[in-house]
Amino acid sequence: MSDQIPAVELRIAHVFFKNHRVLEDLNRQFPSRSVTAIFGPSGSGKTTLLRTLSRMNDDVEGFRVEGRVLIDGENIYSDAVEASRLRQKVGMLFQKPCVFPKSIYQNVVFGLRHRDGIDRKAVPEMAENVLREVRLWDEVKDRLNEWAPNLSQGQQQRLALARLLILEPEILLMDEPTSSLDPRSAEAIESLIERHAKLRTILLVTHNLEQARRVCGEIVFMDCGRFLESPPVQLPPPAGEELLKKY
Ligand SMILES: Nc1ncnc2c1ncn2[C@@H]1O[C@H](COP(=O)(O)OP(=O)(O)OP(=O)(O)O)[C@@H](O)[C@H]1O
Ligand SMILES: [Mg+2]
Repeated sequence: MSDQIPAVELRIAHVFFKNHRVLEDLNRQFPSRSVTAIFGPSGSGKTTLLRTLSRMNDDVEGFRVEGRVLIDGENIYSDAVEASRLRQKVGMLFQKPCVFPKSIYQNVVFGLRHRDGIDRKAVPEMAENVLREVRLWDEVKDRLNEWAPNLSQGQQQRLALARLLILEPEILLMDEPTSSLDPRSAEAIESLIERHAKLRTILLVTHNLEQARRVCGEIVFMDCGRFLESPPVQLPPPAGEELLKKY
């Protein structure tokens, strides 16, 4: 990651599902080591945007991108970029926690299995560190071999985040990560975003304006598949009040 090149850049990008243009004319740079909230009504294209940036829609029938979608200056839809390589840089956390039908420990270390240059002896400590980061360690340290799907929703979301963090992604895409969580888990995730703000580039889709104000340096508004025509809204308020009223 170079601080000179934007971590994420869209250049006149359009996204289609079959003939339906879902994202239109997206032109924007997201600088390295910044936290940006993506805010907008239901159906405005926020999830589609994050899934496009992580190539999660590659297998969706009729999905197509026009224009350029750049990560670290590289067009991720060019033939030269493999989705697996991209995912080493870009991690995505979904609204609904996604854990694998495996033990808690196996979930945390899952992404390391094909990584080169990992000192296998260091892996348990890496796992402990990320579980501490997401404030899950104390709850699971005595049952790391238990079945992860039996964890509570909030614990599963923190586990999913630990599984991403162990890979040290440059870019973290988070799609309403706290919307269905208990306050303790939500707070753990928010506090992690704050701590990682200077390390990673984070795009956070949220319907919670207070949350956006607490943890994001900037808010980007989306409506009908477009970024709203406005200069970047710097926080804290009142800079963005007019746009917020519109929303
Ligand atoms: N796999 C798909 N196939 C066809 N259309 C899709 C697909 N995924 C999303 N869409 C369409 O894209 C548009 C944007 O949906 P998206 O899920 O990105 O909205 P959103 O802003 O995330 O909404 P919400 O706040 O409700 O999560 C919607 O019209 C939706 O129907
Ligand atoms: Mg969505």
